[in-house]
Amino acid sequence: MVSVFRIEGGSPLRGAVAVPGAKNSVLKLMAATLLAPGTSELMNVPDIEDVAIMSELLRRLGCEVNHVGSTITIAVPHRPDHRADYDLVRRMRASICVLGPLLARCGAADVAVPGGDNIGSRGLDMHVDGLRKMGAHVKNEHGYLLAESEGLIGAQVFLDFPSVGATETILMAAVTAQGESIIENAAREPEIIDICMMLVGMGADISGIGSSTLIISGVNSLKPVSHRVVSDRIVAGTWAVAAVMTQGDLTISGVSPQYLALPLEKLQTAGALVESGGDTIRVRMNERAQCVDVVTLPYPGFPTDLQPQFIALNAIGQGAALVTENLFEARFRFVQELARLGADVRTDGHHALIRGREALSGAPVEATDIRAGAGLVLAGLVAQGSTTVYGVSHIDRGYAGFVETLQGLGAKIERVED
Ligand code: EPU
Repeated sequence: MVSVFRIEGGSPLRGAVAVPGAKNSVLKLMAATLLAPGTSELMNVPDIEDVAIMSELLRRLGCEVNHVGSTITIAVPHRPDHRADYDLVRRMRASICVLGPLLARCGAADVAVPGGDNIGSRGLDMHVDGLRKMGAHVKNEHGYLLAESEGLIGAQVFLDFPSVGATETILMAAVTAQGESIIENAAREPEIIDICMMLVGMGADISGIGSSTLIISGVNSLKPVSHRVVSDRIVAGTWAVAAVMTQGDLTISGVSPQYLALPLEKLQTAGALVESGGDTIRVRMNERAQCVDVVTLPYPGFPTDLQPQFIALNAIGQGAALVTENLFEARFRFVQELARLGADVRTDGHHALIRGREALSGAPVEATDIRAGAGLVLAGLVAQGSTTVYGVSHIDRGYAGFVETLQGLGAKIERVED
């Protein structure tokens, strides 16, 4: 038996929706707690499968992890274990984020190599090169990255590309290294700012936060922290696109509108009325959207994690749009599924040409990753008739209470065992 989502299209979404903490921040923040013995506390934690997997990983490393509502406490021992096994890493690629903190804390880290996934090949070369520059010995043996160091030394690291994961790995290794480290061409995503703020709260010395040059002066030790996770801009963006596609009216709260500036501007270009103030965004739409071009790039460019949702939006828009994907080579795989709903999408390398259709028609489709899953559900919400989405475990990894939230906003969707 597997869970599937059954959707009857045609209901506009209306109402208010609160956004939880960001998946792509909380997992790294949980890993960063390894840097200090004692009990750290994270608030605004989303109730998603990936947090459960990261909790399991930390427990195997000797931590005590407790969840109470949206707060988790992590008690880190004086001598954590330093091995992340393949059975967990294969379930969640982001497990690689324990590599930096374990190496810094234990002088060794054995982390299973995650391999590729449904959105691309996903290299780790920049993580490894950065650690080597700091004096670590890293080898890849029998499917594990085996890293060792007798004390990391600060270094200047130029990233070929502003990789989110590599920036985080090097940052977490550098905060307690001896001397100064500089990360040039660092990622500037809001989730990077979030981890920097948490590390500063633990006693780290980091300057240039939010810029592409991070300067880290190593400190001897860090202390536990209490930190609130930044809100999930991708979940917020998904709801905003849903409001536009279904010609509804959603008030999305608990968000940082400035972190969604470009996607919101795209929605305005599509014809939506967007108002933001404080931590709230209201998105209204009362006509068929205009198609909008999108080019994914590292932040502050357009996020790749909203690309499938915008392809779904274009699929029922007026006119045509060109979507260019610059981060993950296989992220267009999902358009084959969207085509099952009648979408007219042609891909060529990292470009997709979408010709908007007046209507989509419900069909069974398979989600191949989290964001593809979100895009397919949005398409199902506007397709005529009924759509069944398979592979919803991907969606559960990153969207807390997705079905229940959609039901509360007026969607006809249910989770059923197939
Ligand atoms: N890359 C390399 N070598 C490296 C590191 C990255 O070639 O050493 C390549 C990757 O293969 C990819 C590109 O650089 O083509 C970008 O990778 P990046 O390291 O920036 O991404 P990530 O850290 O693996 C995180 C998010 C992704 C999000 C990207 C970009 C987490 C757990 N994942 O991945 O989120 O798309 O940043 O913003 O934080 C998702 O939530 O659906 C998701 C895939």
